[in-house]
Amino acid sequence: MPDRLDRDSAFAGARVVITGGLGFIGSSLALRLVELGADLLLVDSLLPDSGANPFNIAPVRDRVAVETADIRDARAMRGLLGGCRYLFNLAAQTSHMGSMADPETDLAINCHAQLTLLEACREVCPDAHVIYAGTRQIYGRPLYLPVDEKHPLRPVDVNGVNKMAGEAYHLLFHDVYGIHAVALRLTNTYGPRMRIRDARQSFIGAWLRAALEGRPFEVWGGAQLRDLTYVDDAVEAFLLAALCPAAEGAAFNIGGDRLRLGALADALVAANGGGGFEMREFPADRRRIDIGDYYADDRRFRDATGWRPKVAAAEGLRRSLDYFRAHLAEYL
Ligand SMILES: NC(=O)c1ccc[n+]([C@@H]2O[C@H](COP(=O)([O-])OP(=O)(O)OC[C@H]3O[C@@H](n4cnc5c(N)ncnc54)[C@H](O)[C@@H]3O)[C@@H](O)[C@H]2O)c1
Repeated sequence: MPDRLDRDSAFAGARVVITGGLGFIGSSLALRLVELGADLLLVDSLLPDSGANPFNIAPVRDRVAVETADIRDARAMRGLLGGCRYLFNLAAQTSHMGSMADPETDLAINCHAQLTLLEACREVCPDAHVIYAGTRQIYGRPLYLPVDEKHPLRPVDVNGVNKMAGEAYHLLFHDVYGIHAVALRLTNTYGPRMRIRDARQSFIGAWLRAALEGRPFEVWGGAQLRDLTYVDDAVEAFLLAALCPAAEGAAFNIGGDRLRLGALADALVAANGGGGFEMREFPADRRRIDIGDYYADDRRFRDATGWRPKVAAAEGLRRSLDYFRAHLAEYL
């Protein structure tokens, strides 16, 4: 289990690459790695309709290298990954509805390009630690709760299928080629720097925007159970996963604060000091790919790394609102 000192010094001066580094979680990780003294390269294609936003890294823009490149481009990846010690692989098409509307792009990025990237690693940085951003979406509709890593995988959308394959490639390259790969299966992650323009990244983004603009937001259903991870807790999970040899070759659930969506909506109104929401029936096209109730059993990751989520939903929502109030124009 990495102790605090290991964690704070391991990245100092180390060549670290983040794919998807201008996106929501990637940029949050970048800000933390700059604090830890990493020699940081952010690789991002600025995928339209994603969470990519150059403003996300504004506070550290002069302390990181940024390359506008696509992980589908094998030659570019070989050129960028030389000397990499830690590769945080977060680049993805993340929209579930988007994956149904344009399944080929989801396949190309979330499946094929993952293989491209891993082949590049094998060639130019075979000793790198590769931390893959997986998703709980691969479980589909839970058969039991909480969902542990032994739960069957039965994705309900194209994104889930391709992310499942992306994760499997990482674990395969560990098993066959000895690549130091680990996968984190994230759940609903939220916080400053997320996409709030619309609900493409998460319904929470659309809720935050409506609350900030003084409009009621829509809650579909409301009884669904979810566990929410505040982005700083997700960032800490990525760092610990990178530093924990016992984690290599495995996939881990990452959970957070568990609550029903109706309670989350109440918490948002309270954190905002006002506003409201409307309860609606689930739209039919969304219901088809909805997973219902989910919360993670993440004891395996906690036991391996000592990780614990620290930020409860009420506090995380308050911090998110504060951030977006100060920078709203950059996110609309
Ligand atoms: N946010 C969540 O709730 C959540 C939940 C589960 C899993 N994840 C996973 O975490 C990772 C990060 O998600 P996020 O929420 O920060 O999304 P995001 O959209 O904010 O970030 C993804 C980034 O990847 C970039 N990208 C997409 N395709 C690319 C390509 N071909 N080449 C280079 N860059 C490319 C985008 O431009 C974007 O900046 C993803 O892998 C996602 O599947 C996120």
